[in-house]
Amino acid sequence: MPKDLEAGERVMLIDSRMRRYLVTLRTGGEFHSHHGIIFHDELVGRPEGRVLRSTRGSAFFVFRPTLSDYVLKMKRGAQVVYPKDIGAILTHADIFPGATVIEAGTGSGSLTLALTQAVGPTGRVMSYELRQDHHDQAVENIQAWFEGSSGKPENLELFVGDVFEEDPGVVADRMVLDMPEPWRAIGTTTKALTPGGILCCYLPTIPQVMQTVEAMKRERFAFISTFEVLHRTWNVDGQSVRPDHRMVAHTAFLITGRKLAPAEGDVSGL
Ligand SMILES: C[S@@+](CC[C@H](N)C(=O)[O-])C[C@H]1O[C@@H](n2cnc3c(N)ncnc32)[C@H](O)[C@@H]1O
Repeated sequence: MPKDLEAGERVMLIDSRMRRYLVTLRTGGEFHSHHGIIFHDELVGRPEGRVLRSTRGSAFFVFRPTLSDYVLKMKRGAQVVYPKDIGAILTHADIFPGATVIEAGTGSGSLTLALTQAVGPTGRVMSYELRQDHHDQAVENIQAWFEGSSGKPENLELFVGDVFEEDPGVVADRMVLDMPEPWRAIGTTTKALTPGGILCCYLPTIPQVMQTVEAMKRERFAFISTFEVLHRTWNVDGQSVRPDHRMVAHTAFLITGRKLAPAEGDVSGL
């Protein structure tokens, strides 16, 4: 049975030029744009996936937002990890249901949301953020996302603190670092990572990549891989089939590596 939209839920209203508006439905509420008004009461109690006309006759698609829609629209304290990279992080860091994941920094909470969903109710995400204002923004964003569905997730713990100084007190399966100096964590914070565990770092510049890879080599990580994800959409319209003029190209580099067990010998030259 399709679940009808309810007051208090978020929906995406998408106009004919594919502009997206994130709206929280309220009984008696109105969405105003220069294309006219949409009355929330025309949405509440009805399914998503409809096309509505505003008071000025403009068409709007009505859909519940995907996580990708949401992270691009939510308020930002820090720059978020983009959806094209979130997918790659979940896959290449192998974030699995039931995993224990340590993350830093929480930032705006974009990656935290994806990690929390991926580990599921039997997993655990512990996320550290240095700045109180970024932590507060992340809490607001995360609560707003889960409010409409399952409520605040019990598998997520958010901490204000310096990840270099915290002792998580757990053995982690995976560690994901999106912060300026991850090499400072390698060999210290990464002690919490289980042998065979995966470290994933997300870095915008090459000097940061160089320092991180060197530290990973020094601290006995194997299968170190550095890559970026370029996302190019195509226009497919009858005989007109060509790449779009604009693409989401460089955002950041991803580095992954697997932690070796202490007694596994000399890895130099591997
Ligand atoms: C680019 S943002 C992270 C964005 C986040 N991944 C997201 O998707 O919203 C980097 C964050 O790392 C935090 N940070 C920097 N150094 C840190 C540290 N030593 N411990 C914890 N957080 C740190 C910064 O305050 C900042 O909020």
